[in-house]
Amino acid sequence: MKRIGLLAGSLRAESYARKVARNLGLLVPNTVLAEPISIAHLPLLHDHLSRREQDACQAFKEQVQRMDAFCIVTPEINRGIPGCLKNALDIASVSYQGSLWEHKPVLIASVSTGKLGGLSASQQLKQLALVLGMQPVQPTEIYISDVRRLFADHEVLTDDSVLPFLKLAVDNLIAAMPGETPTSTLTFQIGTDKIRLLQQEKQVGQATFQWSTGSLVISSITIEPEFEHRGLAGQLMLKLIMIARLFNLGIVAKCSYSQAFFKQHPALGKALRLQ
Ligand SMILES: Cc1cc2nc3c(=O)[nH]c(=O)nc-3n(C[C@H](O)[C@H](O)[C@H](O)COP(=O)(O)O)c2cc1C
Repeated sequence: MKRIGLLAGSLRAESYARKVARNLGLLVPNTVLAEPISIAHLPLLHDHLSRREQDACQAFKEQVQRMDAFCIVTPEINRGIPGCLKNALDIASVSYQGSLWEHKPVLIASVSTGKLGGLSASQQLKQLALVLGMQPVQPTEIYISDVRRLFADHEVLTDDSVLPFLKLAVDNLIAAMPGETPTSTLTFQIGTDKIRLLQQEKQVGQATFQWSTGSLVISSITIEPEFEHRGLAGQLMLKLIMIARLFNLGIVAKCSYSQAFFKQHPALGKALRLQ
């Protein structure tokens, strides 16, 4: 399975850049794995790192190497990218194989609580991505201004003025990954309490859930009768699992389909903090 690494240039617990990066992960099709990459534990790069610091850098580099593409979301700090993001990019630019970012497609987005959407930071990041040998995909101008408003009520991004733009960028990122052709006609519309599964604009299924502190409670999975037995309920389950993974939630399988699903895939249940 191909992997997309999600990187956010912030160490803040409630970082908006990280929220946007996770929501980009939700737009990735079920055939590709979106994996958050933490930069919180990385030391500042220098040439006298302790054994522990070297191990932290090594683990980070190995994760970067496993990725086939990246989504990088940067805030803007004093008209530039934050030091923690520059440091992380520098760390994986040094290896026996050269830059581990090289030849990998990248979606670049910037966020800001202000009005300019982090334009300067985005320009810097784009230039840096090119220096590191990455391949930025179109649209390369994703500046999300006034980002606080997008997450005023929920962690899931539902704003129609931003979502189509992000979806287009993710589709282009998938298309730029060698061996990935975005052929599926299925679309997931993810809301704060339900996922609608559409095929060519027609709703063919739906999952409902509650998002309570630390858990995702799966209440129902329904598929339109004429679309049953095509694996669509399983596709909805995979999307729910992706939400839980990206947002660090445990899963409560309340409806009978979700219970049967985890009985059939016990390894998945084990990895997912089933509650
Ligand atoms: C020291 C500092 C400098 C900042 N400079 C800028 C800036 O130059 N341009 C801008 O649009 N926002 C600026 N901001 C606002 C940040 O973009 C905003 O706080 C953002 O939410 C931080 O990203 P995060 O939520 O992912 O941590 C600044 C914030 C701080 C704390």
